[in-house]
Amino acid sequence: MIVAPSILSADFLHLGRDVEMVNESEAGLIHLDVMDGVFVPNISFGFPVIKSISKIARKPLDVHLMIVEPQKYISQVRDCGAEYMNVHLEACTHLHRTVEAIRAAGMKPAVTLNPATPVSLLEDIIGDLDMVLLMSVNPGFGGQKFINHVLLKIVKLRKLIAESGSDAFIEVDGGINLDTVPLVADAGADIVVAGSAVFGSDNPRETIARLASF
Ligand code: DX5
Ligand code: ZN
Repeated sequence: MIVAPSILSADFLHLGRDVEMVNESEAGLIHLDVMDGVFVPNISFGFPVIKSISKIARKPLDVHLMIVEPQKYISQVRDCGAEYMNVHLEACTHLHRTVEAIRAAGMKPAVTLNPATPVSLLEDIIGDLDMVLLMSVNPGFGGQKFINHVLLKIVKLRKLIAESGSDAFIEVDGGINLDTVPLVADAGADIVVAGSAVFGSDNPRETIARLASF
């Protein structure tokens, strides 16, 4: 399993130290949650923080935008050094145009689905994506409980990806810990995001390695 530690749960007073920990760990990506207080009922951090992180990060940046009108910020996300730009399907009126613009800017396009959004809505765009992020909590906060029905969505998405010949990764975000990661792995996910399970543990680096072993 590829692990993407979520900086939302890091210690913002010691951000450099926490990013170095991720650099030295078995993590495959660094997950960065941008919230606008409109699309989700919370505000996190923005581009200046991501830009600073990118100066020392040695893992690719996975930027998860929980904001309205994410298409307005494509060049800013690119200038932060993002590898993946994750936009919510629910926030995009012209999803195809946004995905094309993300790729034209030199990033890998990824689309995120809230728990109530069906996988079938990706049917006509799956071939254009490098990643699909399935939310396994309602977005906005770390430390929430994993919603079990996302397991069925992972299975459906795996089938859709196989049928379409796409090679998009399946990423799952929310409530991932050592109890839920085996379920998500069995269902067919490639990448897990983990915030509180990593940064709230006594040994974050070891927790990343344990999550990665599934
Ligand atoms: C939630 C964010 C997540 C969050 C996950 O809206 O998208 O990335 O950091 O936190 P945990 O792993 O604690 O559920
Ligand atoms: Zn996230």
